[in-house]
Amino acid sequence: MEEIKKALAEADPFASWWPFIVAGIVFVIGTVRTYMGGQPCPNGNTIPGRVIVVTGATGGIGREVCRELARRQARCLILACRTVEQGDALKEQLRREAPDCVCEVSVVDLRSFDSVRRFVRQLQAQHPAVDALVNCAGVIFQPGGHTADGYEQHLQCNYLSHFLLTQLLRPQLARSAHGGRIVHVSAHGYTAAKIADRDDPLNLRQPAQSGRDAFAHSKLAIVLGSRALAGKLTAEGCSTTVNCCSPGLVRGTGHLRHSPIMKALFAKVLTFPWMWLFMKSPAQGAHTIVRLVTDPALAGCTGDFFNDCERVEVSELARDDELADRLYRASLSAVGLTEDAARGTVRPKKE
Ligand SMILES: NC(=O)c1ccc[n+]([C@@H]2O[C@H](COP(=O)([O-])OP(=O)(O)OC[C@H]3O[C@@H](n4cnc5c(N)ncnc54)[C@H](OP(=O)(O)O)[C@@H]3O)[C@@H](O)[C@H]2O)c1
Repeated sequence: MEEIKKALAEADPFASWWPFIVAGIVFVIGTVRTYMGGQPCPNGNTIPGRVIVVTGATGGIGREVCRELARRQARCLILACRTVEQGDALKEQLRREAPDCVCEVSVVDLRSFDSVRRFVRQLQAQHPAVDALVNCAGVIFQPGGHTADGYEQHLQCNYLSHFLLTQLLRPQLARSAHGGRIVHVSAHGYTAAKIADRDDPLNLRQPAQSGRDAFAHSKLAIVLGSRALAGKLTAEGCSTTVNCCSPGLVRGTGHLRHSPIMKALFAKVLTFPWMWLFMKSPAQGAHTIVRLVTDPALAGCTGDFFNDCERVEVSELARDDELADRLYRASLSAVGLTEDAARGTVRPKKE
């Protein structure tokens, strides 16, 4: 012991540059990771009594959204997922972490409008009021052609089915005692989207040639559709708000599972250090969504786009109100609904 004490007393930290180099590297890595992790949700308030529906609940970001909402004392989470097994595993995790939060697993396949309608019927039978709807499910590089309803997969799964779900749940959201909130999860990639023909804002006549383009278009449709709905709800005097957000670039989720490049092991190994350094964790990716659901300061905020928990301007194309209105009407028609604008009600055209 005496020898160790003596060695420490005589040690000269300035004899080598290595301690400084190592400390510098650790500092730079820590700073980059903190910066790239984005701004955390600025409020930590609880939301007791709230009933919240989350699509894509078992995905990387959706799971973290559910965990945080359960921690914040949501009364009931409706976990919309593709299989009961996935939902039950998440329900069990949430039961351990937040035993007072009731979790209900409900199956929905966003590739089918019938499945969305079944999901909503079941939900409406049990919950006359819903406080928030988080449309978090999404796909990119999805293989396969069109859905059984005849739409491009990204368009239907990311946008049209969420559009239908939102429209059908409008009465339940309007009954929320806390002011219903709709949160759509878009992506930065929406800025790369193109709509060549304004008479065909859903690109039905000219479908995208690649999964990336189809994804970008579906995420632009989310932003435009969200702004159009926000305008309509405000005009009707409805207290329900609707906003969308980008979670940022998030590692460790299933999002790139169908990416042709990321399927290769060498690509995974090569990109891992960069993803670890420059991308958010799923929990960090959930922050903006959690803020939009929980922050009382955003009670009257509607029709906006959020990134890193802050409101940001959208692209010129996404600000085009006339295009947003065209897209909204085309979407109603695509999902088989008609809106009686005067009465502010949505009625099924066919069922
Ligand atoms: N990760 C990123 O860097 C990133 C960047 C920008 C935007 N986003 C958006 O963030 C959201 C969450 O993505 P993530 O990263 O958490 O990806 P993820 O782990 O793949 O989660 C996506 C979720 O959507 C569900 N889903 C996919 N197809 C569905 C369908 N047909 N019906 C019902 N549910 C379906 C998935 O369920 P299954 O597990 O059953 O397939 C999964 O739960 C998506 O909207 C995504 O576009 C992510």
